[in-house]
Amino acid sequence: MAGQGWWRTKPIDQALEAGEGGLHRVLSGLDLTFLGIGAVIGAGIFVLTGIAAATKAGPALTLSFVIAGMACLFAALVYAEFASTVPLSGSAYTYSYVTLGELPAWIIGWDLILEYSVASAAVAIGWSGYFNRVLEGLGLGLPEMLTRTPFDGGWINLPAFVVILVVSALLAVGVRETSRFNNAMVVLKLGIIALFLVTAIPKIDVTNWDPYFPFGWSGVVGGAGLIFFAYIGFDAVSTAAEEARDPQRDIPRGILGSLVICTLIYILVAGALTGIVNYTQLNVPDPVAAGLALIGAHSVAGLISVGAIAGLSSVLLVLLYGQSRIFFAMSRDGLLPPVFSRVHPRFRTPFQVVLMTGLVVALVAGFMPIRQVAELVNVGTLAAFILVSVAVMVLRYTRPDLHRPFRTPLVPLIPLLAIAFCAYLIASLDAVTLWRFVAWMALGMAVYVFYARHHSRLRSEQG
Ligand code: ALA
Repeated sequence: MAGQGWWRTKPIDQALEAGEGGLHRVLSGLDLTFLGIGAVIGAGIFVLTGIAAATKAGPALTLSFVIAGMACLFAALVYAEFASTVPLSGSAYTYSYVTLGELPAWIIGWDLILEYSVASAAVAIGWSGYFNRVLEGLGLGLPEMLTRTPFDGGWINLPAFVVILVVSALLAVGVRETSRFNNAMVVLKLGIIALFLVTAIPKIDVTNWDPYFPFGWSGVVGGAGLIFFAYIGFDAVSTAAEEARDPQRDIPRGILGSLVICTLIYILVAGALTGIVNYTQLNVPDPVAAGLALIGAHSVAGLISVGAIAGLSSVLLVLLYGQSRIFFAMSRDGLLPPVFSRVHPRFRTPFQVVLMTGLVVALVAGFMPIRQVAELVNVGTLAAFILVSVAVMVLRYTRPDLHRPFRTPLVPLIPLLAIAFCAYLIASLDAVTLWRFVAWMALGMAVYVFYARHHSRLRSEQG
């Protein structure tokens, strides 16, 4: 039943009709799983693990990965039901529009814009760090003025700026090309992680795991709140629904498959890394490579750095991809200007929005103190997971008749567990992060009140 005013919901059948045509259906089930792995494994494991182990959780970081992984697994089961029932671009934004109403959908869309753009900028900075270290290794390091933003005493973080523009250009040209590049990067990234594990596991010294809980249980939960970042991105698979060949079958597989693979990898890497060196030695920007260097495996450490660059590139690719598809869906509904949903006649991509998004995110990564706000991404994503979990229960109640090729098991238990885990992780974040999030959402409300609701296509159709 369609609600009134801000709570009007979009009829599902009409939404599904609008999703036909336009984008190019080229992605297979394997492509989608790789898309998920491509988005997920990146700065979280290659950069943040060290800080999280050294300052939050100690060797119990492995448990932090388990807790954050459980929150994501419950949320992923919910996403999988939605993705199979409403296989449309726009992910959580679209799911909310057809269940909770326009205002909650706007809130979630605004929230996802934050998730994808700030995460992309933060990952680009991690990319720049690894890239410059490899250049330094070759004796070609860039001057500091070109690797630091004006807020850190430099001019521009040039590698971060350039990599976003390059990735955006690739995205603009076509989704098939993007997916091929992504698949290659994912293979490289998995290879490097396998190399890390076979090098590190025989060198584990169990005395490094003692004490296991140097910061107590609160450290474990704080660590989970921070390294939750490492899991972000599996939801980006659902933004590809209109470019998947068989979305109802393959999107749930892509989401759950990539998440399970990544969770296992994270638990192994965290256990091995805290096992080869003392956690206090890991507070560095490249902990995975540094950990190996500390045990004398210098050549493998060098390879890890090169692999990390590939890994971080695929994260950028998928996050920027997801970002443009969220804009696309919101613009198609009239909530953002029409230019965001214009599809290029030959490339069949939302060409203009991809390039505009790329330019804005490149400017943010190149010039802004983004590191300080990166935790915002976590609270934004956790909030989105909570809303989607509510929405799946609402849709079961309002539209029990819908065909659901994938059903979340044990409803309402699983969505309620997702909500509980996500709320627990949000509560572990700093108050300043939560306030920044509130400020971002307040800005979003202003845009809704002054622009979006007046241009809503649904409003003009329903009167
Ligand atoms: N999960 C992605 C990463 O860790 C965002 O880089």
